[in-house]
Amino acid sequence: MSYQAIDVRPVSGALGAEIFGVDVSGDLGNQVVDELHRAFLDHHVLCFRDQELTPQQQVAFAGRFGKLDIYPFLKSVADAPEVIEILKTENDSYNFGGAWHSDTAYLERPALGSMLYAIETPPTGGDTMFANMHLAYEALSDGMKRMLDGLVGINSSDQNYRGAGGRNEKMQDLDGMKDKIVASTEVLVAEQPVVRTHPETGRKGLYVSRVHTTRFKDMTEAESRPLLDYLSGHAVRPEFTCRIDWRPGTLVFWDNRSTQHFAVNDYQGSRRRMHRVTLMGDRPS
Ligand code: SIN
Repeated sequence: MSYQAIDVRPVSGALGAEIFGVDVSGDLGNQVVDELHRAFLDHHVLCFRDQELTPQQQVAFAGRFGKLDIYPFLKSVADAPEVIEILKTENDSYNFGGAWHSDTAYLERPALGSMLYAIETPPTGGDTMFANMHLAYEALSDGMKRMLDGLVGINSSDQNYRGAGGRNEKMQDLDGMKDKIVASTEVLVAEQPVVRTHPETGRKGLYVSRVHTTRFKDMTEAESRPLLDYLSGHAVRPEFTCRIDWRPGTLVFWDNRSTQHFAVNDYQGSRRRMHRVTLMGDRPS
């Protein structure tokens, strides 16, 4: 079905589309929102250029697609409890999100989607890569698919945040992030299906990552590691990916149920500042 109210231009063969003809800060009619929702399910990652958004306008736009969540590990920006700031300064070397993952997979109900808005971007670099987990699953052999059927992953926030309660050396070292960490958040752990079915499209996708999945249920870490390593590498093969470059005013909306993403850390000595909101998801099955 074609689009009448928006212009949708795919950015790669695997996933991702740029959307033209929409000012997301405006009062969007139902047809535009319905078509954006359809494009979101078709392309998994939507990119809007040249947007001018306050945190409240970002919240309002995201709210057209679901209920917003509060991110457990970072404090919000002033006057917008759902918005977190992701900042890498000229002095920081480590970056937030610099490993393939799907947001908040360690929650019982992980984020449906995330919306990231660029405020300051480096002169070059700082792109975000995305990978299509449906394509990754569909490319597996029938034997591997049978083996993964029913397998459960133990997903933890610990590898990324080390509990964030003062124990995350990486985050604590960053000029851009150290004053944003919520010190009281405990390590969060959730059991998730290794293959999840998208609740809206019914399509199956891989749901494991090196950064969140620590092992398979009823198996040790050592027993789980070889298969986890294989799946994590397979999931992000180049032909399953796209790459989005940012400039101030770029807004990207991605589906965490069907994708993973990776913030590329290739802009040492430059600043990158973004605002992110997440939408509440359902329980993966
Ligand atoms: C994230 O993992 O949500 C951050 C992505 C980015 O900064 O590009």
